[in-house]
Amino acid sequence: MLKCASFNWRQFWREKECVKIILACLVLLMVTVVNTESRQPVLHRVGGGRFTWKPNVNFTDWAIHEQFYVGDWLYFGFNKQLYTVLEVNKTSYRDCIDENFIKNITKGGRDVFNLTEAKPYYFISSRGYCFKGMKVAIVVQDSPPFPLTNGYLPITISSASNSPGKFVLLVMVASTSAWMLL
Ligand SMILES: *[C@@H]1O[C@H](CO)[C@@H](O)[C@H](O)[C@H]1NC(C)=O
Ligand SMILES: *[C@@H]1O[C@H](CO)[C@@H](O)[C@H](O)[C@H]1NC(C)=O
Ligand SMILES: *[C@@H]1O[C@H](CO)[C@@H](O)[C@H](O)[C@H]1NC(C)=O
Ligand SMILES: *[C@@H]1O[C@H](CO)[C@@H](O)[C@H](O)[C@H]1NC(C)=O
Repeated sequence: MLKCASFNWRQFWREKECVKIILACLVLLMVTVVNTESRQPVLHRVGGGRFTWKPNVNFTDWAIHEQFYVGDWLYFGFNKQLYTVLEVNKTSYRDCIDENFIKNITKGGRDVFNLTEAKPYYFISSRGYCFKGMKVAIVVQDSPPFPLTNGYLPITISSASNSPGKFVLLVMVASTSAWMLL
């Protein structure tokens, strides 16, 4: 190990131990760079479609198949003549109470909602439609450490598309080390 302290670069690179250490450092650096990638915000269409904020949709079933993270958006597509979207608390969600709601999100029927906090959110429709199933509860988590949307092992340059800067850094590190190896 002490051989690594040598100031002779050619000698240095001939030592397998040294090369291993450097490679390990490079991998660590790459993992760190990829880990700090922020995930792109996702727009979640409530109910699964463009126009699926309506009665008799199982929103519980929809929600358990989605992962919600801070910064994501909800999209409610619906007939505004009939339905509304109200953000309510847990009790009002459970009992379909449409008075003293937290926020009325209803605008044109293609309405979005910014998920800004890691917490549970509850939404219902007023005008009695909550009792027909128009209610949804979701749990928002802090952003994940890995860009999950790109599948496992994000080391495959998933950063290339959304972050050219970091990709360039990787290439520079890689080519610098290749140059030193020669
Ligand atoms: C909705 O889906 C959930 C989860 O899949 C299930 O437990 C529940 O029974 C369903 N509700 C109705 C009314 O079908
Ligand atoms: C939820 O909102 C209802 C209606 O405003 C209110 O009566 C109730 O106390 C609230 N519950 C909680 C736990 O905040
Ligand atoms: C929410 O806002 C919509 C659109 O402005 C309005 O039609 C609806 O009556 C409001 N709902 C409630 C419960 O206030
Ligand atoms: C959504 O919420 C986040 C966190 O508060 C904020 O930084 C962002 O600007 C919001 N986006 C829009 C378009 O309002």
